[in-house]
Amino acid sequence: MAVREILILPDKRLRHVAEPVKKIDAGIRKLIDDLFETMYDAPGIGLAATQIGVKKRVFTVDLAKKEEPKNPQVFINPQIVWSSDEKATHEEGCLSIPEFYSEVERPVQVKVKYLDLEGEPREVEANGLLATCLQHEIDHLYGILFIDHISKLKRDRVIKKFAKAVKRAS
Ligand code: NI
Repeated sequence: MAVREILILPDKRLRHVAEPVKKIDAGIRKLIDDLFETMYDAPGIGLAATQIGVKKRVFTVDLAKKEEPKNPQVFINPQIVWSSDEKATHEEGCLSIPEFYSEVERPVQVKVKYLDLEGEPREVEANGLLATCLQHEIDHLYGILFIDHISKLKRDRVIKKFAKAVKRAS
């Protein structure tokens, strides 16, 4: 296992579209181990393969609170098969856009089909924080960031800020 580098806005690889996992082999299991280790190290509640520069439809999630035991969850080839008409607004952040938070409106409930670590098809009906998190992570697999759901004015401002930081560092 290894802590991998998390890509930061405006890294173009964050815009790559991930490909479906064909076979859950040693390489995919290693990727999942790395995602968990990197996510816990950050720390964060979700991490998509896209965020470590791997174009595979995989992400990890753990919504357990600090005092609760770990609850590692992995989603392979996830797909939203249903979302509610009802929407809600939650504050979101992203390990690829550190220290920036904004309210995002999304469907309150979603149904997601995916494969588990054994390659077994699964389905989860999610609401609350899990629904938000699943939609946020699935977006990553399409190269979509949560700032794409906020106003253009706010988005342009945050992109500009991060682009400047890259310039300063180089
Ligand atoms: Ni994110």
